[in-house]
Amino acid sequence: MSQNIAKYSQFVMPDHINVVGTLFGGQMIAWIDLAAAKVAHRLLKGSEADGAVTRTIQEVEFREPVYLGDWVNFTAKIISAGTTSIHIEVKAYAEGGKTDPRLACLASLVMVSVKKDENGKYTKHPHGKTIN
Ligand SMILES: CC(C)(COP(=O)(O)OP(=O)(O)OC[C@H]1O[C@@H](n2cnc3c(N)ncnc32)[C@H](O)[C@@H]1OP(=O)(O)O)[C@@H](O)C(=O)NCCC(=O)NCCS
Repeated sequence: MSQNIAKYSQFVMPDHINVVGTLFGGQMIAWIDLAAAKVAHRLLKGSEADGAVTRTIQEVEFREPVYLGDWVNFTAKIISAGTTSIHIEVKAYAEGGKTDPRLACLASLVMVSVKKDENGKYTKHPHGKTIN
């Protein structure tokens, strides 16, 4: 299992649909954030950090509409890592019952590794990880 890649899937239900009958963009961004959190979680295994929080979500591109009943399959990949930052690219492929998967949305995110201090506050903390 690669530490640098995570996969995640969601099924588009009626609650996820906007007024023009496609997947609500804010829902897609929430799922992208979760996909990025999954790969960050995997990277941080064995580190001193307690977790990672989202610092930026950049360059979100909605390339194709996504419809009720589609599966959305996310691939989150760590592109690089700094001292506390983890730079992640997420691609979302929509897959209808009768259609091939298509790249529907992509985004870049920066997550920051954090640790709980003695006051219970989470502050940035070096993750000590490098990306090959
Ligand atoms: C994330 C957080 C802990 C960072 O703490 P901070 O003291 O402000 O940290 P910094 O400004 O030094 O940034 C931390 C890292 O992010 C990087 N970073 C900050 N802003 C960035 C940006 N706009 N683009 C790219 N990288 C950025 C910094 O370069 C640094 O990287 P490095 O340690 O690898 O050199 C703090 O900003 C925070 O708590 N934000 C709220 C997080 C949140 O609530 N997210 C939503 C829920 S998960």
